[in-house]
Amino acid sequence: MRKVTTLGLLGTGVIGGGWAARALHFGVNVIAADVKPEMEAWMRGAVENAEPALARLTSAPLPPKGALSFTTDLKYMAERADFIQENVPEQLPLKRRVLAEVSRYAAADVVIASSTSGLTPTDLQRDMVGPERFLVAHPFNPVYLLPLVELVGGKKTESATLEAAAKFFTYIGMHPLNVRGEVPGHLTDRLQEALWREILHLVNDGVATTGELDESIVYGPGLRWAAMGTNLIYHLAGGESGMRHMLAQFGPCLKWPWTKLEAPELTETLIDRMVEGTEAQAAGRSIRELERLRDDSLVAVQQVLRQTNMGAGATLRSLEERLYKDAAAAATAMVVEPGKPLRLLETSVRSDWIDYNRHMTDFRYGQVFGDAMDALYRRVGVDENYRATGRMYYSVESHTRHIGEAKVGERIHVTTQLLAVDDKRLHVFHRLHRGRDDALIATSEQLHLHVDTVRGKASAVDRGVRGKLEAIRQDQLSLTRPPESGRAIGQARQTDATFQV
Ligand SMILES: NC(=O)c1ccc[n+]([C@@H]2O[C@H](COP(=O)([O-])OP(=O)(O)OC[C@H]3O[C@@H](n4cnc5c(N)ncnc54)[C@H](O)[C@@H]3O)[C@@H](O)[C@H]2O)c1
Repeated sequence: MRKVTTLGLLGTGVIGGGWAARALHFGVNVIAADVKPEMEAWMRGAVENAEPALARLTSAPLPPKGALSFTTDLKYMAERADFIQENVPEQLPLKRRVLAEVSRYAAADVVIASSTSGLTPTDLQRDMVGPERFLVAHPFNPVYLLPLVELVGGKKTESATLEAAAKFFTYIGMHPLNVRGEVPGHLTDRLQEALWREILHLVNDGVATTGELDESIVYGPGLRWAAMGTNLIYHLAGGESGMRHMLAQFGPCLKWPWTKLEAPELTETLIDRMVEGTEAQAAGRSIRELERLRDDSLVAVQQVLRQTNMGAGATLRSLEERLYKDAAAAATAMVVEPGKPLRLLETSVRSDWIDYNRHMTDFRYGQVFGDAMDALYRRVGVDENYRATGRMYYSVESHTRHIGEAKVGERIHVTTQLLAVDDKRLHVFHRLHRGRDDALIATSEQLHLHVDTVRGKASAVDRGVRGKLEAIRQDQLSLTRPPESGRAIGQARQTDATFQV
């Protein structure tokens, strides 16, 4: 299957718009197709609305944003996309028809996926050309923030299709979950519906309001579910003997039974209770307002879970590892021009990096120079494997000078000059430039110390790493030492007398 640089979308409503926002954010171009021309403005608005939360999800260096285009011509999209995701309304005849049509125009190595919530892939792939490259890839709303995507193959789907899809979805920060068999509703919607059915019964029977039932989840199980699913949580609930004890203790309740299998009739009274209940919960807040609250909370939860490496936090962590690696690889792939500083980092100023003066806020400079240092480390072999051996560089001193302004959305890059290297110390001088005119925005002079992280003491760097650092320094010998280097704050220039190799 081919490398995905352009994602084709068919249907650009709630789900299509969410796919667009996620793909664009992680550097994939999007060609979006919808029968209704007015969906272009709607989708561009949805992408814009998603951006503030997405921008806060991770501060790892991102590739340049993808480019978005819109068409009402399905064929135009299908001929240009490297991967196609269908998101038209949930109707089998309609989906079958558009999937068959798309499959006639898409090249044979283009994977075609459907976002269907409950239809099965064997039903959907029936009339397609090349049905072996089709699968169901079921996402969750908001697609740009929730990493889960259920992957289901049909009778004619090849395993290579599922593998290629999983690779692409991982690339855009998702957690692909392979569903072993074709069952209506896949896995997650079956679980969600079971809960929803009980909600409808309890509201119908006048036992609880929609608000009370939401409280019963939000203040309790919902908090646990973000980190562990029902099964592992119940294993803990059984005490030292785990799930076995849990089943012995609560198993009999399953026979009583507490819950019902049939959904209640959706009478006008029940519909009114559900609508009035949720309107009372919204308390006058618009859908957009509530979406922002939901999105801010989803970002915050994932960032916390990253610390414990649980659930969606683990996905975020491995995404960030890859983004840092990609940024370092991009830096390594850049042609090193002897006699010039290394160009180590390319990124853009995110919307949440801006302060009330409307330019990049102070602490983000530390982050950008830190990311450049990370790219340098990886280039010379100081990566997670090296860290695992109990060795790393720690920064011990830095001096940042702010010279120009970087505004939201602007491309920026960092170049780095090695001033000195010895067995324990690494002395560098970074310059942060604005992409559009190369203007100097800031400089940062830093001293890093190589440490034995177990003993917490300075230690000699690996000889191979030192050799690579020396080689860079040799390449840069013809560079003049930056006149600002060694300068103390607010004082006249002075030379660094303590450390010159
Ligand atoms: N909304 C959710 O929470 C959710 C979650 C996961 C999956 N899904 C699935 O995603 C799919 C889309 O759902 P949605 O909520 O985005 O629906 P939606 O109604 O918001 O969007 C559907 C879009 O498809 C377009 N469309 C209709 N016919 C078309 C055609 N022939 N060619 C091109 N475009 C066409 C419509 O103009 C509309 O813009 C469904 O299969 C649904 O089951 C929805």
